[in-house]
Amino acid sequence: DWTMAGYRQQAIDAIRAQVGDSHVICGLSGGVDSSVTAILLHEAIGDQLTCVFVDHGLLRLNEAEEVVKMFRDHYNIKLIHADESDLFLGALEGVSDPEVKRKTIGRLFIDVFQKYANDIKDAEFLAQGTLYPDVIESVSFSGGPSVTIKSHHNVGGLPEKMGLKLVEPLRELFKDEVRALGHELGLPASFIGRHPFPGPGLAIRCPGEITREKLEILRKADAVYIDQIRKHGLYDDIWQAFVAILPVRTVGVMGDGRTYDYACALRAVTSVDGMTADYYPFSHEFLGETATRIINEVKGINRVTYDITSKPPGTIEWE
Ligand code: XMP
Repeated sequence: DWTMAGYRQQAIDAIRAQVGDSHVICGLSGGVDSSVTAILLHEAIGDQLTCVFVDHGLLRLNEAEEVVKMFRDHYNIKLIHADESDLFLGALEGVSDPEVKRKTIGRLFIDVFQKYANDIKDAEFLAQGTLYPDVIESVSFSGGPSVTIKSHHNVGGLPEKMGLKLVEPLRELFKDEVRALGHELGLPASFIGRHPFPGPGLAIRCPGEITREKLEILRKADAVYIDQIRKHGLYDDIWQAFVAILPVRTVGVMGDGRTYDYACALRAVTSVDGMTADYYPFSHEFLGETATRIINEVKGINRVTYDITSKPPGTIEWE
């Protein structure tokens, strides 16, 4: 695609002109936007870029390893893997209120990011994967709903606080254009097409108290579910799919024994922008097979339910 190739070169020239000899910090989440931002910056300024990947211990199975492998080993980008799971999980101990969870994670995220960023010498810029719709939304925000349903991760105001200037190479692009640019930059299709994943991570898929035990069970169940969806060729038809572990144990029977384990809920929705969503109409065959696999393969779960709530009135995430 000659247009995207042209855009790529133009964006690289603009970054070089803006940054000069200074150093740039980029928060990397592993999502498409921050990934494309990091790779583009790396092409433009190489070692003048340092990425900070905050690992809050609420990521999916093998997710942290995959991000580190891709960006540090494959792309050769300077990457700090801030493994702060003890800090986050410690602060979340005994917390079951969804808003307290979100605010605790948001606050610590900023603290941790700042701590690591302060150690990066000569940093003058902060790179963000802001897209065009984000730019418009923040302008028209006062016209938006006045009720806060969920407080999202918000790092707005961080650059000023840290005395950094912003680099936002994607601010003219829509999501599909970011994906095309990612493709142009050689980002694997499996990364580009990934379902959205919320900043607070698995915390909001674990209603009630978060424990390491529950997180481990959740990670395994989620991996089996996503594997099923990929094997049946359904991944790209779905906006988002995940497992939530429920704060309830139920009685079951396995072999010749009684079990008393957690119940979980499968979630899968179609959506255009995440604002409204419909539950995905899986076949009963698929659901039955998936339930059997999860119960057989994941120790700690003995009951599987399918969430058929659309948005509204439900939200996509459980918290
Ligand atoms: P809800 O659950 O509000 O989610 O229907 C709509 C979309 O937003 C994602 N989501 C978040 N993304 N930080 C994020 O970056 C957050 O705090 C957050 N909460 C929800 C959710 O995964 C869905 O795609």
